[in-house]
Amino acid sequence: MKKLRIGLAGLGVVGKGVYDILTKDAKLLEVRSNASLELVAVSARSKKDFLNPKIKFYENAVDLANDPEIDVIIEVIGGNKTAKDLLQAALKNGKKFVTANKALIAEEGFELAQLEEKSQSCIRFEAAVAAATPIIKTFREGLAANEIKEFYAILNGTCNFILTKMKNENLDFAVALKEAQDLGYAESDPTFDIKGIDTAHKLAILAAIASGTKPAFKQLHIEGVDEVTIEDIKLADELGYKIKLLATYKNLGESMQQAVYPALVKNSDKISQVDSAFNAILTKASNANWNMLIGSGAGSLPTASGIVADLVDIANGRTNYMFGVKSEHLREAKINNISQRFGKYFLKLLINKDLAQKTNLAEVLFGSKLQIEKAAFIDKNSEILCAFLTDEQKEQDVLDILKNLDSNLVKSAKFLRVEETNSF
Ligand code: HSE
Repeated sequence: MKKLRIGLAGLGVVGKGVYDILTKDAKLLEVRSNASLELVAVSARSKKDFLNPKIKFYENAVDLANDPEIDVIIEVIGGNKTAKDLLQAALKNGKKFVTANKALIAEEGFELAQLEEKSQSCIRFEAAVAAATPIIKTFREGLAANEIKEFYAILNGTCNFILTKMKNENLDFAVALKEAQDLGYAESDPTFDIKGIDTAHKLAILAAIASGTKPAFKQLHIEGVDEVTIEDIKLADELGYKIKLLATYKNLGESMQQAVYPALVKNSDKISQVDSAFNAILTKASNANWNMLIGSGAGSLPTASGIVADLVDIANGRTNYMFGVKSEHLREAKINNISQRFGKYFLKLLINKDLAQKTNLAEVLFGSKLQIEKAAFIDKNSEILCAFLTDEQKEQDVLDILKNLDSNLVKSAKFLRVEETNSF
């Protein structure tokens, strides 16, 4: 029986999941891989009690790359510096590389794609985006006969978990975040989750495959969930919407939108029904029409599931270019400024009670510049919090309208974007 000898860098939540799957599912994996998947070495800050003593232990991850008894290295240490050193050393020594490191792929993906080709090795990263949900394979292989026109995705389990808890259990943001951390969903630095950075890393990777362009993380417009309040969630609910942190990609011909923001999605829209730590990617493709994948997007075994699937592919010789095409074909991404977005908006204004009584309130506030489809209100003693759902507008025009509101009438104003996919 052929052997695939594995070195595992990192024994945190995900590393432990990989260890567990390789141990408990060894027989199944052997049949599917036509090889025995043997974990021969690990590296971590310290030895763990659960480790089989026959497995070699290295304190320094890069030592795995110099071990001649290893064919493939799994990197689940996170961060960029050591992970990149390990990747470079591994490829230089002819080893294959599997990683869940979205930051590394999103920020240095083009350079890595070149390195992969030069070394004639392979870098696999299914678990980097949506963990157990096979979206890399779907975009790169399953939808290879399509142009991806647009996609809307929930790509951060922590944020989806927090928003779901806030809505369903009226929980405070901080309490919901603590629960997500305890369940092993959050990054070691959870600001990456709540500020939308983790989602943007994943968006940059998916958008590169979708559009055949270089990952463009640094150009993305990124907003997180940290400014979403329980009142936003309640007002959205009254209007018939949920708030989700969305990664959005729209192919606009010459240019594209790639942006991350909390958006209102209609209760009847399939993606709004994806709650808790689940991820989803709703895609419009040129020939396949709409398609939606839903799955576990974070956590120990789900992330390890994506990683081990990559091992099975490697064992069977099923490899592909990182972004589906040779790096020489990857173009520069031309991404529109978000102020060019065209769509509906949710406007939230704090006004005094007398003004709120007016039957022509929207006209008093906005003149004839906006059409209001729906409105909802929360009574706050002497003041009223109003939410308006607008017709389709250019974002720059909405910004101008908000900037020019009469400050004697409006005490505070903010907006969220609305995404209506009309998919299924
Ligand atoms: N912190 C990430 C999330 C882990 O919550 O989705 C999976 O990438």
